[in-house]
Amino acid sequence: MKMTFGTVLAGAVLIVITVVFMTVGVSTLTFQPLPSNAARPLTDQEERGRQIYMGNGCVYCHTQYVRPQDWNAAGGAKASRVAQAGDYVFQKTMLLGTERTGPDLSQEGGIHPDDWHRAHFTNPRYVSPNSIMPQFSFIQGRELDDLIAYVQSLGGKAADARVAQLKATQDTVMKAWNTSYEDHLAQIKSMVPPSWKDLKSAVPPTTRSLLHGKQIFTTNCIGCHGQYGDSRGPASPFMKPDPANFTRPELQLAASDGQYYQYLLFGLPGTSMPAWGDYLTVQDIWDVINFLRTIPKGGLVVPDDQLTPALMLQNDPVYGKGAPGGYQGPEPSNSDKILDDPYCDEKIFPDVSVLPGGVRPADCQVGTGSK
Ligand code: HEC
Ligand code: HEC
Repeated sequence: MKMTFGTVLAGAVLIVITVVFMTVGVSTLTFQPLPSNAARPLTDQEERGRQIYMGNGCVYCHTQYVRPQDWNAAGGAKASRVAQAGDYVFQKTMLLGTERTGPDLSQEGGIHPDDWHRAHFTNPRYVSPNSIMPQFSFIQGRELDDLIAYVQSLGGKAADARVAQLKATQDTVMKAWNTSYEDHLAQIKSMVPPSWKDLKSAVPPTTRSLLHGKQIFTTNCIGCHGQYGDSRGPASPFMKPDPANFTRPELQLAASDGQYYQYLLFGLPGTSMPAWGDYLTVQDIWDVINFLRTIPKGGLVVPDDQLTPALMLQNDPVYGKGAPGGYQGPEPSNSDKILDDPYCDEKIFPDVSVLPGGVRPADCQVGTGSK
């Protein structure tokens, strides 16, 4: 055959078609996985939600698969199982995604209650304060219900089991909530292991601890609990039970430090209170608990230099009586004392009369403040 341009072109096209068929066509025709034990078809409502998911570019930032090296999933949950081909058999358009700007959502169903999602889609920063996810407040009404139904279906039958458990816990919580606030407190207390119920703070309530606790509270908690700790954050209208009110001393002292630790570490199942164990360290949690105890006496409104352990409820002559006061654990370490307070330093402030109150702070290290 003569090697004309036409024959070469035809040959090249044939080779391309063969290669494409061998790699794409043959595998599509022969790879027909059976549904996995978690796969199920979507309901009509969930399918409508999936269309909204596609239409709003959620897939640009979220993946839907768990790899063997992934150790955690959305919402701080454990990556329970590695994705299998059979998980996807009922999907027409694949939404695997490539970019994890946000967490993987393949097991998102049943991690958070609907309340949380409602607040989160309206403004992600209400519930995830440093979030860079855009607001989807324009998705409302039935569309929002559909999108939430879809998100709650992610994970298939495994998600259904989590959602069922979440709803059951929510029912128990709401039953107590609708009876009285005391019943609610007793009900959430029943989730705490006995050995934690009388636990005192393990971190000394020093000025450092309180200031750090305040910082954690204002960056993570005010979206729900409110900037005055009064439960009126912008996310609170979406939630039942309401976020806890920290301004009332008698309610605060109804729970020990150990109880608060449990609620922060694991969250409060059946409510929108998330688990903070993956975001905050042990010390962060104790610091914020120490700080919570100052809120009824103005911890959130006094200037930072007046935020002292004297504001803690445990030190209050009325409420402090019989309260689980003090702390357990070692003496404050040096990092808990303010060693380099400039007011202590004679070189920086030689003239005592310019200092607040005209005296050096009482806790200056002896000898010198300078190092
Ligand atoms: C610009 C990237 C971006 C886009 C677009 C985006 N997200 Fe997110 N998403 C994030 C980030 C970052 C987080 C983690 C912080 C947070 O919780 O808001 C997140 C968190 C989430 C969570 C909570 C996961 C958890 O349990 O902690 C859900 C659910 C979610 N996104 C759903 C969606 C849906 C549905 C859409 C589309 C309507 C969407 N996201 C669009 C970035 C994005
Ligand atoms: C997404 C909203 C949300 C965020 C963010 C949130 N909480 Fe909560 N929190 C709740 C809800 C809802 C409750 C349940 C109300 C209750 O038990 O009275 C709750 C309950 C609590 C309780 C139990 C109080 C009690 O009733 O005895 C503590 C302690 C607490 N939150 C501390 C925090 C701290 C500290 C942060 C920040 C690190 C935080 N929460 C962030 C929603 C939230």
